[in-house]
Amino acid sequence: MKAARIALRNAAPLAAAGGAISGAGVTREVEHFSRYSPSPLSIKQFLDFGSTNACERTSFSFLRHELPVRLANILKEIDLLPSPLLGTTSVQLVKSWYVQSLLELVEFQDKKIDDHKVLSDFIDAIVKVRNRHHDVVPVMAQGVLEYRDSSKMDQFINQNIQYFLDRFYMNRISIRMLINQHTLIFDNNNNVGNPRHIGCIDPCCDVVDLVHDAFQSSQMLCDQYYFASPELKLIQINGKAAGQPIHIVYVPSHLFHMLFELFKNAMRATVEYQEKKPSLDPVEVTVVLGKEDLSIKISDRGGGVPVRKIESLFSYTYSTAPKPAVDGSNSTPLAGFGYGLPISRLYAKYFHGDLSLCSISGYGTDAIIHLKALSTESVEKLPVFNKSACKHYQTSVEADDWCVPKQKIRNVSRQSAVA
Ligand SMILES: Nc1ncnc2c1ncn2[C@@H]1O[C@H](COP(=O)(O)OP(=O)(O)O)[C@@H](O)[C@H]1O
Ligand SMILES: [Mg+2]
Repeated sequence: MKAARIALRNAAPLAAAGGAISGAGVTREVEHFSRYSPSPLSIKQFLDFGSTNACERTSFSFLRHELPVRLANILKEIDLLPSPLLGTTSVQLVKSWYVQSLLELVEFQDKKIDDHKVLSDFIDAIVKVRNRHHDVVPVMAQGVLEYRDSSKMDQFINQNIQYFLDRFYMNRISIRMLINQHTLIFDNNNNVGNPRHIGCIDPCCDVVDLVHDAFQSSQMLCDQYYFASPELKLIQINGKAAGQPIHIVYVPSHLFHMLFELFKNAMRATVEYQEKKPSLDPVEVTVVLGKEDLSIKISDRGGGVPVRKIESLFSYTYSTAPKPAVDGSNSTPLAGFGYGLPISRLYAKYFHGDLSLCSISGYGTDAIIHLKALSTESVEKLPVFNKSACKHYQTSVEADDWCVPKQKIRNVSRQSAVA
């Protein structure tokens, strides 16, 4: 949470967010753009935007509307948070960033599309937005922690916050994706990436290579913390073209993120559970390309988790690791913030994949990533602000429609004897 503290210390007051525009002006823009639903793009469309006949003007005219729409949609949901959470300094700061970014982008609505200066100013503006939003995740997390420590969180509020954070972070992933694609493809000062990549998409992403990279990075951390780490056992099956390497069209940084988080979890569980064993069981990874799905199963022998707890592992406030020390060093912690699984699942879901855990308590855990194998089917999954979304924040927990077991069965034999 170091980033959160630094960001809060340097926080600009919310009033500055409006700049020259009044509060009423802000409300008008938010109302206007939140009336539109975001337009999800497929990976194929992202590629078309950036391939040989890439047109900066087309991308600009799409983004100058789409970015404000995505910002405004999520701003409406921020306002539905429970007021003690909405009132925290952290959430107010995050909100002010969203408002500021929205207003800066609205400036481009009527600008001439053929003017080179406009196009380059737009790139500067979205880079500024990306930098401004850099610390959104830790600052928002700080707000949730503040709220949790100061208020009583019941099951309903907990569900609300989980629902909101999933949508909020998904929206953020999508905004970053749009900004990264535009800047990587059209910013001439930015031509340093892999020549095969189109923006941040690799049209020929070697999945097994990424597995090795993420495993090694995780192993380095694990060795640092425990002076030991499990080995990798890898099986790959190409169900479409037997024996051929497995490639998909995907964003390698997203897949790396998921793999790295799952490997860190698998390694921590293995080392801690098998502490007394002379050698550690390997982490087994199975990569399979099918007709529709690319699936990656990560199996560990780290003792597993009781089935009762599985869903709570995806909660943004759940971790069984000690909180990492904030000692000013920039070292990456192996675990402790509890964000590994929920954020990884969002990355998987972003292009309509999924991430699930199947655990056998007393044995080990399988974590499975499913991604769409076809780039036409990998379409962005985006939250939209509408009546159904509003309802989620308003409905209170209703009585369970399944019987809740009683703690003790009442002994009626004595009572009836007395009667
Ligand atoms: N493979 C696994 N085996 C056992 N427990 C796991 C495994 N993966 C995750 N967990 C449990 O889920 C919790 C949350 O994981 P995560 O979201 O990655 O956060 P963190 O690793 O920071 O605690 C972990 O603290 C751990 O208790
Ligand atoms: Mg983790």
